Amino acid sequence: MTSSSRADSTDAISQAATFLRDGKLVAFATETVYGLGADATNAEAVAAIFEAKGRPRFNPLIIHVPDTEAARSIVAFNEMAERLAAHFWPGALTFVLPRALDCPVCRLAGAGLDTLAVRVPAKESARRLLRQAGVPVAAPSANKSGKVSPTRSAHVADAFGDEIAMVLDDGPCPVGLESTVIDLTGSRPAILRHGGVPAEDIEAVTGPLDTPEAAPNTPSSPGMLLRHYATAAPLRLNADKARANEALLAFGPDIPSFDGTTLNLSTTGDLREAAANLFEMMRQLDELAPAAIAVMPIPETGLGAAINDRLKRAAER
Ligand code: TXA
Ligand code: MG
Repeated sequence: MTSSSRADSTDAISQAATFLRDGKLVAFATETVYGLGADATNAEAVAAIFEAKGRPRFNPLIIHVPDTEAARSIVAFNEMAERLAAHFWPGALTFVLPRALDCPVCRLAGAGLDTLAVRVPAKESARRLLRQAGVPVAAPSANKSGKVSPTRSAHVADAFGDEIAMVLDDGPCPVGLESTVIDLTGSRPAILRHGGVPAEDIEAVTGPLDTPEAAPNTPSSPGMLLRHYATAAPLRLNADKARANEALLAFGPDIPSFDGTTLNLSTTGDLREAAANLFEMMRQLDELAPAAIAVMPIPETGLGAAINDRLKRAAER
């Protein structure tokens, strides 16, 4: 059974921070809802979040940091971000901004996109955890896919049991719904998801907001949550061998003999490792500008479903 520990104990916070640094999953209270956290710089730990949530696809996650300064090393701040941070952080407002140069967050946490969502939570125990962990923490709401976001530690412990290392219990969440997500990459800010900070309060600081439809990072078609990362080179899926002008994205120990560039998502056929490598390797292959990328079949079980979802979306053009 997962240990659920009170966040008012210093030992519990140190233990949780150690788990995070060791690549384990820790659920923790924020003022909005409980988050399911992992070290955002560790792609395998982030893959474990998707595995535990049972999501059939990779959605970009919110990156949690203890203060504005830490946020600036992850995303490229602009004037609007500075102004909003001064007014609303710490708090229930999440900024979408371009990744900073030398951003340490793994590509999987941002689902391969060039932007990241970042926030400084208001709950003191969460910020103490983030400070002690010393790494940015990727955390979606700590519910199984398709279920409502948890506002009490018991919800989390019931849903995940020993799939996670620890639940850091800090009572019921005072806000009780998720943070507001605001896109700050366009000429005017635009709300992508309504949440804990009302639009009117934001507008009082920023002036008129853009309509979500005009936001650069808004969903581009119904049924699709977000723009997604796609390679410039076309992908050829379920390939049993690669052609001369292709690069090969392989999976598993048995790969066809091939003279061209080959990257293997996981030589042992481990889906968590493959998920952790997916977006990095798509980018690496793309940089070589091959005529096309041949992708070996990936099993549709566990994280394989999310990997195949992304590959299919990237292959559609
Ligand atoms: O209150 C909250 O926001 C909670 C706590 C734990 O912080 N977290 C949360 O995370 O609700 P999650 O993963 O359930 O929701 C993240 C939201 C999604 O709507 C996602 O599409 C959006 O943030 N998002 C993340 N990265 C994005 C990006 N680069 N561009 C646009 N939207 C993004
Ligand atoms: Mg959620």
